[in-house]
Amino acid sequence: MTNILITGGTGLIGQHLYHILTKKGYKVLVLSRTKNENPTSFYWNIDKNYVDKQAIIQADYIIHLAGANIAKKRWIKSRKQLLIDSRVKTANLLFEAVKKWNPSLKGFISASGIGYYGAITTTKNFTEEDKPANDFISKICVEWEKASNQFKTLNIRTVILRTGVVFAKKESALQKIVMPIKFGFGSAIGTGKQFMPWIHINDLSNMYLHSIENKNITGIYNAVAPESVTNKALSKTIATILKKPFWLPNIPSFLFKLGFGEMAVILLKGSKISSEKIEKTGFKHQFKKLETALNNLIN
Ligand SMILES: NC(=O)c1ccc[n+]([C@@H]2O[C@H](COP(=O)([O-])OP(=O)(O)OC[C@H]3O[C@@H](n4cnc5c(N)ncnc54)[C@H](OP(=O)(O)O)[C@@H]3O)[C@@H](O)[C@H]2O)c1
Repeated sequence: MTNILITGGTGLIGQHLYHILTKKGYKVLVLSRTKNENPTSFYWNIDKNYVDKQAIIQADYIIHLAGANIAKKRWIKSRKQLLIDSRVKTANLLFEAVKKWNPSLKGFISASGIGYYGAITTTKNFTEEDKPANDFISKICVEWEKASNQFKTLNIRTVILRTGVVFAKKESALQKIVMPIKFGFGSAIGTGKQFMPWIHINDLSNMYLHSIENKNITGIYNAVAPESVTNKALSKTIATILKKPFWLPNIPSFLFKLGFGEMAVILLKGSKISSEKIEKTGFKHQFKKLETALNNLIN
């Protein structure tokens, strides 16, 4: 049996992935900051540089999802440091542990974000070849990917999925967007022209599975749906599906900046991201079009 260790396996993506992988016959182990009686759950403590050796030696693959939530709290200085450390120090800890206890690990697959390309609104369609931007959201991804790429020095197949906004039935960004529209207060945010690259949770989980099962997959891949939509188009489509009005003027950007500070950029900015590279490896999205995904998730 193939064992897959997921860090941050208790989160939105991790829980979904757990079910997909288990159904496929993999044994899934979870690395968590919370101790748990479950025999497949293992403990780590980043501040104490501790990770359970049993988790590492049993793993055939590691999927690294752990990280403090980017959109949960304002980006004050200490939060910014935590956003980086919770991804980078964890990857460093895993790297040292794998080097010592399991250098023949078959693959290290890590999340990253489309924030790599920066919080900017353009009409450019970003591909994996594009350079990172110079802002904070990009810095998180650059540091995170650098830490993940250390595994290549051990000749371990390394895959990085630069993920768009994940749409799921529960606890995803989608619910926050749907809520005001449900109550008849649908409107675009800022200019409404910013793109919001998205991916259905089923497709993202299948992309992790695809990355494990296809040994020729290595390096960086954008994990987004093929169809790019603007913020306005997204809200309008949700309103149509829910049969709700969509007539209010756009909510001005300054209100978001007041409410969320620097973090507002993740709502107010965005460009198109290409999904071509992963498709060329044979990956087939189940949800290519926004409308189909939304009908599945909110209707
Ligand atoms: N959801 C999205 O739309 C999206 C988009 C792009 C990229 N991503 C990235 O994909 C990864 C998984 O996303 P998700 O939505 O599943 O996230 P999530 O629901 O917030 O879960 C992340 C998990 O990481 C662990 N974690 C939280 N704070 C941590 C800290 N300070 N130090 C170490 N571990 C910590 C937690 O597990 P324990 O409490 O069990 O330790 C948590 O369950 C994240 O790194 C995220 O940035 C997500």
